Amino acid sequence: MTCDLAPSILSFDLADLRQSVETLVGGGATIVHLDVMDGQFVPPITFGDSYVKALRPTVDALFEAHLMIQTPERQFEAFAAAGCGRIIFHAEATAHSYRLAQSLHDMGVQAGVAINPGTPVEMVQSILEIVDLVLVMTVNPGWGGQKFLPAMLEKVTKLRTLRPDLHIEVDGGIDPVTLPIARLAGANVFVVGSHLARAASLSDSVKEMVLLCG
Ligand code: DX5
Ligand code: ZN
Repeated sequence: MTCDLAPSILSFDLADLRQSVETLVGGGATIVHLDVMDGQFVPPITFGDSYVKALRPTVDALFEAHLMIQTPERQFEAFAAAGCGRIIFHAEATAHSYRLAQSLHDMGVQAGVAINPGTPVEMVQSILEIVDLVLVMTVNPGWGGQKFLPAMLEKVTKLRTLRPDLHIEVDGGIDPVTLPIARLAGANVFVVGSHLARAASLSDSVKEMVLLCG
């Protein structure tokens, strides 16, 4: 099972992102994690598909959209057309997760489902056979820079036991201390935002985190 670093661009200067993303990918990050918020599912609003489309041609990495939005299926086609190879919706934002995952596959993109800290694994257990990835939120969604919630690791371990070949992503509060802990629990995709954005040298910091992925 591969281990990947998925830098989140949320904590970077969005007006001047190209350079940062090139440095992230140049340093070994294989995924660009795009936090899309609608002001409804979570209070903040970030960006839409046109922003992703503008960024896409300059970068050679898997673009994954983390849709923290209500009725996520309304945005699937737009984000797939913008160049996202993986689209992650929240289990709490739909009553039809199985159908949504199927429709992502029909569009030719990988399907991911995310669960909030208050949501148990059981909520997604019956769709594990169809999704490519489960994202376990290790903070409450909506903001970068929050403290990692260690109690979420139990969910990671449970998911790893239920489906050994599943991509399990952790998102929120990941840094050089928490990444190895989450990896040990069974995660293999690591979202990192503010830790990288704060670094004195982005290039050195991303390389350090990629090394920790193993
Ligand atoms: C939070 C987002 C995260 C966030 C991670 O709602 O889903 O991707 O940007 O940021 P850090 O690494 O600062 O917790
Ligand atoms: Zn995210």
